Amino acid sequence: MKKVVAIDGPAGAGKSTLAKRAAQKLGYVYIDTGAMYRSVAWKMLQEYGDGKFTDEDVAAVADNLTVTLSYENGSQRIAVDGTDVSEAIRTPEVTAIVSRVAAIGRVRRKMVDLQQKMAADGGVIMDGRDIASKVLPNADVKIFLTASIEERANRRYREMKEKGFEIDLTKLQEEIAARDKADSEREESPLVRVPEAILLDTTNMNLDEAEAAIIKLVE
Ligand code: CDP
Repeated sequence: MKKVVAIDGPAGAGKSTLAKRAAQKLGYVYIDTGAMYRSVAWKMLQEYGDGKFTDEDVAAVADNLTVTLSYENGSQRIAVDGTDVSEAIRTPEVTAIVSRVAAIGRVRRKMVDLQQKMAADGGVIMDGRDIASKVLPNADVKIFLTASIEERANRRYREMKEKGFEIDLTKLQEEIAARDKADSEREESPLVRVPEAILLDTTNMNLDEAEAAIIKLVE
């Protein structure tokens, strides 16, 4: 039977990389919900380059945009109103405002509705912050994936460097800690570990070990 798997955790814990790899092995669909919130943040930067917008502006933009997920060789692609933004949503500029955008109730309701529809037939691994607590409370497997802040910052630093972004490691660590705080303390669907979620700390695991641990939990 194909299951529904929910993975939550803080920024840079390796959720996307691991969920994607495990989904490929299991023949499941991987759904990256962070990409959806990043898409709304990307659109805000297109419309208000100066970053000066109100929560109401964000909600209005989110109401009127169409986010489409598609799959190419097992990789998720994401489009906003027909424009592919899969790479554009990973810039530091988008990352800097995404938590603010994701805290807005009207934005979340639209995205959660889409996420629940996508998971309705099972055979999915979905990652985010509120998947086990809010989006898929009946998921068959719930995992809380984490790692130390230093390790998460190091991983994200290497990833951004590979993509050609020059960033300062200390600043990156501060940015990640600030985003974790905002995501955990917000009123709407904060990042939480639900009691039934299995804790997977990947600080001292390599990718293969962490992937094997996830597959074992699903099977
Ligand atoms: O990949 P990274 O850990 O940097 O973050 P992400 O998964 O792309 O998510 C970006 C941001 O979207 C998070 O910092 C949250 O503010 C928000 N998010 C959320 O609120 N709920 C989700 N289910 C997924 C992401």
